[in-house]
Amino acid sequence: MESYPEKVEAALAWLKERVPDRPLAAIVLGSGLGSLAERLEDPMPIPFGEIPHWPVSTAPGHAARLVFGRLAGRRVVVQQGRVHYYEGFSMREVTFSARVYGAWKIPYYIPTNASGGIHHGLRTGDIVLVHDHINLLGTNPLIGPNREEWGPRFPDLVSAYDPELQLLAEEAARENGILLKRGTYVAFTGPSFETPAEIRMARILGADLVGMSTVPEVIVARHMGMRVCALSCVANPAAGMTGQSLTHQEVLDEMEKSSASLLRLVEGLIRKLEEDRA
Ligand code: HPA
Repeated sequence: MESYPEKVEAALAWLKERVPDRPLAAIVLGSGLGSLAERLEDPMPIPFGEIPHWPVSTAPGHAARLVFGRLAGRRVVVQQGRVHYYEGFSMREVTFSARVYGAWKIPYYIPTNASGGIHHGLRTGDIVLVHDHINLLGTNPLIGPNREEWGPRFPDLVSAYDPELQLLAEEAARENGILLKRGTYVAFTGPSFETPAEIRMARILGADLVGMSTVPEVIVARHMGMRVCALSCVANPAAGMTGQSLTHQEVLDEMEKSSASLLRLVEGLIRKLEEDRA
């Protein structure tokens, strides 16, 4: 049996054989945001199932592939679909892809997701720059022996969401006429949506957005020294904020509507990234 680091290395070696040039950024597309992959020049899709050890999602609304290509003239890899803790994957499986990008020394990690809006000032369709998170998953992907080659035992998360990338994202938003809000993202495990009481609690704790992803990958990305810029799209008011109940279909439908501006923003941000600033 291969160890976890060996599996990461095997996946990376397999990818490098097919894609010799290291991407400048890894972009992860959340639920309903798949269309960015269609904007890539010279796209080269690779289904997750072909990559050794790569975990394959079961969540509806998630494609399951990497697409290598160019966006705004920069080499990127777009990950369509991710695996979630609620699917029964381990924290290591959830963060496998981030490990591979980190081991490849990809400088920038750009996760996107759909979220519920907790802050009263947020509306469905708003795009939010995540500037901090609260981990309510009850676990941490770094639990277990630390591998010094990957990163420190006790990584700092003070600037986990890179301040310079936040400025660039805000600049890109202004240039593209996109209103970009800012907020703190709280991760619950799901798969049930939260209760109204949990959302009131999360608001008191300082959370503006709620979701079921991203936090483990960001922790691992920081462990490996990647610079992170996370963007969220508000798919619904969080539980209990309207009389409505929540459905996954509603999340997918809303993301479909907002995906165009989020994708323009990601493209605008990528345009501002330079290899030598990494
Ligand atoms: N809660 C958790 N995850 C979500 C939500 C929500 O309201 N909306 C989209 N993802």
